[in-house]
Amino acid sequence: MSTQREADRRPETAETGAELSEAHIAVHWKEEEYYYPPASFIAQANAADPRIFERFSEKNFPECFKEYADLLTWDRYWHTTLDTSNPPFWKWFVGGRLNACFNCVDRHLEQHRNKAAFIWVAEPEEEEDRVLTYQDLYVKVNEFAALLRDFCGVKSGDRVTVHMPMVPELPVVMLACARLGVIHSVVFGGFSGQACGERIVDSGSHILVTMDAYYRNGELLDHKAKADQAVAYAAAQGVTVDKVLVWRRHRGRYSSPTPMVAGRDYFVDELLMRYRGVRVEPVSMPAEAPLFLMYTSGTTARPKGCQHSTGGYLAYVAGTSKYYQDIHPEDTYWCLADIGWITGHSYIVYGPLALGATSVLYEGVPTYPDAGRPWRIAERLGVNIFHTAPTTIRMLRKAGPDEPQKYRYHFKHMTTVGEPIEPEVWRWYYHVVGKGEAVIVDTWWQTETGGFLASTLPALQPMKPGSCGPGVLGIYPVIYDEEGNEVPAGSGKAGNICIRNPWPGIFQTIWGQPERFVQTYYARYCKNPQSKDWRDWPYMAGDGATQAADGYFRILGRVDDVINVAGHRLGTKELENAALTVEEVAEAAAVPVMDELRGRMVEMYVALKPGYTPSSAIEEKVRTAIETIIGKIARPKHVWIVPDMPKTRSGKIMRRVVAGISNFMDPGDTTTLANPEVVETIRRQVQAAKVARGEVPRELSAEELEEVRRFGQVE
Ligand code: WT7
Repeated sequence: MSTQREADRRPETAETGAELSEAHIAVHWKEEEYYYPPASFIAQANAADPRIFERFSEKNFPECFKEYADLLTWDRYWHTTLDTSNPPFWKWFVGGRLNACFNCVDRHLEQHRNKAAFIWVAEPEEEEDRVLTYQDLYVKVNEFAALLRDFCGVKSGDRVTVHMPMVPELPVVMLACARLGVIHSVVFGGFSGQACGERIVDSGSHILVTMDAYYRNGELLDHKAKADQAVAYAAAQGVTVDKVLVWRRHRGRYSSPTPMVAGRDYFVDELLMRYRGVRVEPVSMPAEAPLFLMYTSGTTARPKGCQHSTGGYLAYVAGTSKYYQDIHPEDTYWCLADIGWITGHSYIVYGPLALGATSVLYEGVPTYPDAGRPWRIAERLGVNIFHTAPTTIRMLRKAGPDEPQKYRYHFKHMTTVGEPIEPEVWRWYYHVVGKGEAVIVDTWWQTETGGFLASTLPALQPMKPGSCGPGVLGIYPVIYDEEGNEVPAGSGKAGNICIRNPWPGIFQTIWGQPERFVQTYYARYCKNPQSKDWRDWPYMAGDGATQAADGYFRILGRVDDVINVAGHRLGTKELENAALTVEEVAEAAAVPVMDELRGRMVEMYVALKPGYTPSSAIEEKVRTAIETIIGKIARPKHVWIVPDMPKTRSGKIMRRVVAGISNFMDPGDTTTLANPEVVETIRRQVQAAKVARGEVPRELSAEELEEVRRFGQVE
């Protein structure tokens, strides 16, 4: 294993020419040049002393994480840093008690009562910003907590589902839940009513918090309709939602055409009048009490409710926000992610608020009304830390490559997260968006991991376009091949990236599916199921990766049946099940296709039941089904109706083969198929249609080829 300290060596050219085999897959790429952090950044950085690597070295594990926990205010200090008695269900800071809301709000009042916690920017540019000071936040959170407790009757350990857009009321709801020890389950606002309903059922929530409407791309969208669909779906599955709490986007004015249901739906602003000025004591929770659930996709259709802890999670996001986001009290921090994803939970709400930061929240689309919008916001509010995803960077670059230079903002720090970034795009981000003045961190992590796993430490390790960097402080990654052998750094070979050790931000379990938790993340590389030593339980992330000689990782993408669309995970089974709800469809296969802007998009292959003929109406039905069941984000780029699916002799659909066709790649070995002749038919049909639409094949990078080749290879 290379260490962080080796990072300042010049990179060597990766070895090429290794053979392609099941176990060792060579990846050929050009090593990129290092970029060094500007002196002005180093001079002010929270982590500028290289001795920090020593403090977080393996010999100081797990006690090194005391440094993160000490950023919090504990009601009772813990006695055991890490309890490994029931692997892989690790327990952090055992014996400790704290309240997450108190740590994010109350404790800042003394020093920062009048400081902005959130500055909310509406999508319509003429609408005024809304500023919530820590005092405002405190009052609103207390009042909403009183409403939840006294009107809804929820208590610690209960689950509340929250389906809201990017408005400041969303963190208010989350923090009010945290104040009561209630577990919030926030569902991304763009997901459909049914997707929300599935998550209500899985978590057993009886309260749904929603909003009437919000702006997206210049349009006021009806959101309340989704609440009705969610509640109806849950009811059909035997879960009753007792109350639906509806926030209003415009003060005193209901902006949805969907009727309110008497005795079930309530306007939050009306209810809150009863709780004006009420204070609710924060409930002191054990460090190990769950703070929230965040659902994500996996290999099966049932989404995974990742359960995150209170103490370990909060300590981890506070520590990584301090050192990797480099947040100082005087900074203005803007993360463009949606709070409905893990990035928003960790790096808009919990991490920055634990540090008493000022965060910008933006309601809408980054390119609305034009590609200068983010830079106008940054200039006007004095944003100096900027955090977004490659898909947004690509969009902004395409729509307005020269826009940033027209505005007088100055970033000291920028983040890219969610998917691999192409070195070309990285360089535009660095030179044009960052004006060559800002340091960039490429943070690799997941819903499951609570916080960053790999990144450069901004003042101490140079950047390398397209590589996320080495493991972050206290994280010791390793790459294993299919047989469980370590793939050495600098070998040019790819394998499955794993984390050798537990860390405070790791999720505790999959809600209601502990066996799936063990099976998915630990079974594959567990060295001894009887062992209580953490060293025998590496965490398997589900990504392919390579490690260069300097210790930097390059993430190649998912190795399971998950498609990463614009930085968001979609499960192939969920997509296929949605397509199968269309009456005419007999079989379906979802595959990723490389897309210039969104990274990857979904393409659906469907075969029809006997007696039906292909038509564009059926294609449209499949698209609509996916949008209604999952959400707009999953809308396929193409639906291909094919005569038959390529299948193995045991009847398994070979997604890899159609994925190859969609991406103009060689479909690979087809000799094991039961119906190899269909491959050529599908190839001609699909590729001719693509070329006719002007989708010319482009050359794929080594990483992209690798990703398609491995697609769906690991269960
Ligand atoms: C998957 C996790 C991390 C929060 C947002 C997404 C991919 C994430 C990077 C990166 C290359 C990345 C991985 C990972 N991914 N960050 N910096 N470079 N790939 O969370 O929805 O749980 O998705 O996103 O494939 O496994 P998520």
